[in-house]
Amino acid sequence: MASSEQPRIQWLGRWGFVLAATGSAVGLGNIWKFPYITGEYGGGAFVLVYLACIFVVGVPVMMSEIAFGRRGRGSPIDAIRRVVNESGRSSVWSLLGWMAMLCGFLILSFYVVVAGWSFSYLWKMLTGSLVGTSVDDMAAVFGANNANPLNLGFWSTLVTLITMVIVGKGVQEGIEKNVGWMMPGLVIMLLLLIVFGMFSGGFGDAVRFLFSFNADSLSSEGMLAALGHAFFTLSLASGAILTYGSYLPKGASIGRTSISVAIADTAVALMAGLAIFPVIFANGMNPGEGPGLIFMSLPLAFQAMPLGTLFGILFFVMLSMAALTSSISMVEATVSWLCDNKGFSRRSAAWSTGIVLWLISTAAMLSFNVGADWTLAGKTFFDWLDYITSRWMMPLGGLGTVVLAGFVLKTETFRDELGLAPLPYTLWLAMVRYVSPLGILVIFADALGVYTVTLSVHWPWLLGILVLMGITGELVSPRLRKALTTR
Ligand code: TRP
Repeated sequence: MASSEQPRIQWLGRWGFVLAATGSAVGLGNIWKFPYITGEYGGGAFVLVYLACIFVVGVPVMMSEIAFGRRGRGSPIDAIRRVVNESGRSSVWSLLGWMAMLCGFLILSFYVVVAGWSFSYLWKMLTGSLVGTSVDDMAAVFGANNANPLNLGFWSTLVTLITMVIVGKGVQEGIEKNVGWMMPGLVIMLLLLIVFGMFSGGFGDAVRFLFSFNADSLSSEGMLAALGHAFFTLSLASGAILTYGSYLPKGASIGRTSISVAIADTAVALMAGLAIFPVIFANGMNPGEGPGLIFMSLPLAFQAMPLGTLFGILFFVMLSMAALTSSISMVEATVSWLCDNKGFSRRSAAWSTGIVLWLISTAAMLSFNVGADWTLAGKTFFDWLDYITSRWMMPLGGLGTVVLAGFVLKTETFRDELGLAPLPYTLWLAMVRYVSPLGILVIFADALGVYTVTLSVHWPWLLGILVLMGITGELVSPRLRKALTTR
């Protein structure tokens, strides 16, 4: 372990970590991406699969990642290597850490473009340029905002700069102080939008769209999207949570912390859905509009409500802040690796990362204007970054994490680190050994078209069988029984 080096800085307390992890989890994923992909994949059934993925796959993966971070006290690469070496396993597993680091970096390079949208809409709100825009013109406004590379590039560059300044300052200074007031603020704004939505005439449709289970609307593609989004929204398999876990003090409970973060994150996403879809339905807009969905709908709500400009400004301030508390977590892994291994100071690590990031994000930004035709298999560069990270890298990284935690490490390692009572520990182990990996594999296989029976119809049965198999498997496992009795 890292004890020979100087002690790693830590969060100020359990709250410091919960705040930072929630700040990382809650972001554009909840407010921008969740509503728009829910719209694209048809609502209720997608939401249900997403919720299942959060709690069946996401929470166990998150617990494992935090445990890896705290046990290994380092960036994903170093932490994983230390923990597997401790169990006498091969350092090759640290490749998972490399993939996570790369993934966080690639995500950030398109994330800053979306965060740039949020900043530019804040500016539009401040200057009043959206006043009087009708439903039909909203798409044109969004399009015009994207059409000029200098405009869009200005905003994404600004986001990159702010991110790097905060990251350069360090974890506690930059992160802990801001999340504490921002999170409640965001929740208040969303509640306000929901209350407004209740009177807008579209609320019933929105609730039905989000919560009525309609199995026909669910495709294999949609299930993979739900799985990928569960990883994205919890900031998993991309180094963020693992690195934050490496700053977690010994005594804090990993299980309780992970569940709180998952619940907070899910609550914000569902609230965002309840805030946005009433506006969509009341105005006869198309829920499958795509990435511009919230930017085309919410300004309409702000125009129609009393004190709308003020609330609109506050909302986009909160959204931009939420984006920043997430963006800083995506480079934390790279920066902490550069500092620990390559002798960089935090500041120079942040700036060097920032320059490379800026180049990639500029290319991603061009996908909305001059580079709109640079496509491969129908996807722009921006689309590819999103697709590769969410559909492939994160689910595969998550699979690697649970296999590592469940089968490769010595059982004692994580039993110590998680510090759970026997029953919750057994449950966690059953999840990481059977339920989560099989869940991920089933969805992958389905997306690759391996089955002839459509899983979208039979998945509740399959899930039930998997859970039962997992539990019985664990109950009869002599190794585990021994582990539990010697505890
Ligand atoms: N979870 C964030 C969101 O929902 C996005 C995010 C932050 C992220 N850090 C990450 C996604 C690391 C993947 C990896 O907006």
